[in-house]
Amino acid sequence: MILRCIECGKEYDPKEVRYRCECGGLLEVLVDLDKAENVFNGKNITLWKYKSFIPAEKLVSLNEGGTPIYRLENLQEELGMKELYVKNEGANPTGSFKDRGMTVGVSKALELGISKVICASTGNTSASLAAYGAKANIKAYVLVPSGKIALGKLAQAIVYGARVVPVRGNFDDALRVVVEASKELGVYMLNSINPFRLEGQKTIAFEIFDQLGFVPDNVVLPVGNAGNISAIWKGFKELYNAGFIENLPRMIGIQAEGASPLAKAFKEGKPFEPVRNPETVATAIRIGNPANWPRAWRAVEESKGLLESVSDEEILNAQKLLASKEGIFVEPASASSLAGLIKLKELSRIEPDESYVLITTGHGLKDPNVIIENFKLPEPIEPSLEAFREVL
Ligand code: F0G
Repeated sequence: MILRCIECGKEYDPKEVRYRCECGGLLEVLVDLDKAENVFNGKNITLWKYKSFIPAEKLVSLNEGGTPIYRLENLQEELGMKELYVKNEGANPTGSFKDRGMTVGVSKALELGISKVICASTGNTSASLAAYGAKANIKAYVLVPSGKIALGKLAQAIVYGARVVPVRGNFDDALRVVVEASKELGVYMLNSINPFRLEGQKTIAFEIFDQLGFVPDNVVLPVGNAGNISAIWKGFKELYNAGFIENLPRMIGIQAEGASPLAKAFKEGKPFEPVRNPETVATAIRIGNPANWPRAWRAVEESKGLLESVSDEEILNAQKLLASKEGIFVEPASASSLAGLIKLKELSRIEPDESYVLITTGHGLKDPNVIIENFKLPEPIEPSLEAFREVL
C-alpha cells in the first residue's frame, strides 16, 4: 500500500501523516488488489467484510455498513422508470455514510498513535467523528458553521462528547482553519481530504454490487465537499481492476443550486470556480469550495457521468415524495439525489430503461425542523369520539 499524488504521481509512505502532496495535489491510497478477496456472495454484509480492500486494521467500529437497498416500486412506476433503487446510508450507526469513513479514519489515527482528531463539518461528519472518537477514547474537535447546522447533528456531536467549536463563517471557512490547525498544531484531520476517509466510503460500491449481484448502470448521489462521489467511483474501479466486475456505472452528482460550483462548471463547459456565499436548505451540502473537486471531476469524466443542480423546492418535494411513497425519510441533502433524477428525466438527459441506484446519505430525523416549519398542524380536537368522527 502506498500514498500517491493524483496530480504528479509522487509517492509517500502511508505511515507518514500527510494529506496533500508537496505539489498541492490530493493524495490517494493505492491498495494491493492482488490480495483482494472475492467475498461478493450477498451474505453477511458489513463494512469490514471487505477488509482485504481496506488499508487499515479494524481498531474501532460501531458495526457500520450493511445498509439496506430498497427497490422503489411505487416511485419507479410514477416516474416512468424501469429499475430504481435507494441505498439508504441513514441506517448507519450515527445516521449517515460518514461512519464508513470514520471507522477507517479513526482506526488509522489509532494506528498512528494520535490522541487528538479534528474536522470541519456541516453536521454529519462532526456527529460521526464525535462518536468514533468517543469509542476510541481520543479527543475530537469539531468546527461547525455557526447557526447553520441541523439540530439533530449538533445534539449528536454534543452528547458524544466532542468539543464543539462554532465558527463565524461557512463550512469552507471552518475547513480552512482545520487545515491550518492540522499543519501547525499537530491534530489529525479527518475531513475527506484525508485519503483514508475515502477508503471507508468506497465500500458503498462494494455493498451495491454485493447486494444487487450486478453493477447498476447509474449511481446518483448528492455532492458537497465531493469526497463521496470520488470514493464510490474508486470502489467500483477497484472491483473492476481486481477482475470481479465487467462493467462500471455512470456517476451522477447532484448539487444544490445555491452551492453548485461543480455542476455549473460542468454544464457551462467552464473551469471550476468556487461559490463565495453558498446557500441552500440542504445545509449538509452548503459548500462553495469542495476540497475534493479534482477527484470528483475525474470520477464524472471517467465514468461518462453527469453533474446537475436542483433548487431547494425540488429538494423538499423529493424529500416528501420519498417518505410518502416509499416510507424512507431522509434529510434534505440526501433527497437531492431523487430531485436530480427527476430533473434529469424531465430534461431527457437520462435513459428511463436503465438501472439507477440513488444514495440517500443521511437520516431525516437529523433535521426535523425543515418539515415542521413547512407544515401547519390542525387545531387540537376534544378528547371524544364525536370530535374524531368529524375528522374521519
Ligand atoms: N449528504 C449528506 C447528508 C452529507 O452530510 C454530505 C456531506 C454529503 C451528502 C456530501 O458528501 O461532501 O462527500 O460530497 N457532509 C459533510 C459534513 C460535508 O460535514 O457532514 P461529500
